Amino acid sequence: MLFQKAYAAGTIALPQAAKVAAKIDLLHDAVFWLSVVLLALVTAMLVVFIWNYHRSKTGRMTEYILGSHFFEALWTVIPLILFLGIFLWGYIDYLHLRTPLEDPLEINVVGRQWMWNFEYTNGRKTLNELFLPKGRAVKLIITSEDVIHSFFVPNFRLKQDSVPGMYTYLFFEPTVTGEHPIYCAEFCGTGHSDMLGKAIILEKEDFNQWFQTGNLPGSIKKLTQAVSPVSTAEASLPKKSLAEQGKGVFDSKGCFACHSVDGTAKIGPTLLKSFGRNEALQDGKTVTVDENYIRESLMDPQAKILKGFPPSMPTFRGLLTDDEVNALIAFIKSLK
Ligand code: CUA
Repeated sequence: MLFQKAYAAGTIALPQAAKVAAKIDLLHDAVFWLSVVLLALVTAMLVVFIWNYHRSKTGRMTEYILGSHFFEALWTVIPLILFLGIFLWGYIDYLHLRTPLEDPLEINVVGRQWMWNFEYTNGRKTLNELFLPKGRAVKLIITSEDVIHSFFVPNFRLKQDSVPGMYTYLFFEPTVTGEHPIYCAEFCGTGHSDMLGKAIILEKEDFNQWFQTGNLPGSIKKLTQAVSPVSTAEASLPKKSLAEQGKGVFDSKGCFACHSVDGTAKIGPTLLKSFGRNEALQDGKTVTVDENYIRESLMDPQAKILKGFPPSMPTFRGLLTDDEVNALIAFIKSLK
């Protein structure tokens, strides 16, 4: 298996390595060529009018024109339609970009000064190297340990802020095997420009081999400089899955005193089948139990109390690391 050559299309001279990239390029191309055509049109008219209607040729002063409702309407309505059309196009693409994909491979991304940490559901961790299976839906769950970073993969045409204290998401489907650079696109300190990584897209079977064993097929090892000592050393260690690590946190922090995992209600709500549910709150609103709600409930438990439960949970701010929070979330997700 060789790495594919990725091709650029249109006005952006970068390979398109995620399914959504072509859509984004098409919109970019449309805006670009529309601008080129309009610029040419305006410039040509300018030149023609200056040439044809110069006083030295016509021999008379320019007429004094008070205005024309027809032309005013024309140059208001046409740009309005163009701009609203571009907005609508962008909005549709944006919705597409933010719509969760079916059954994605979930990967936790943590930005920190000045590196990217990736953790997979089976507990495998890598540093600055994001291994991805070609043709499989991927969900990145992104956060930061210190300041705001921005996870940016130009070849995917995707960029997402990595923010301390909250989770942001990216959904996409990798399409072209090979290495694609990852940048940090938010100034985050002296090491900002060195905060580099690689997204390495593998064929599904190669990815599965790496995912299960931590080893890349030999043919790929030769082609990529990707595999740094850190990630190979870490990758070969058999780790507990993220959900199992979360179970450990759940037990060691005493969460079980108030939360069951078998569906029975204790003083707090059960965690069984809780992820993804819509729950009623005491103030009459509802909340979807997602990564951000779980994190908020750990750090600021009184913020959104479920209906029928007392506001008695203590905060775990400062008592849980980001890694432990990620593991707890994976554990709660596993309680199906
Ligand atoms: Cu992290 Cu810039």
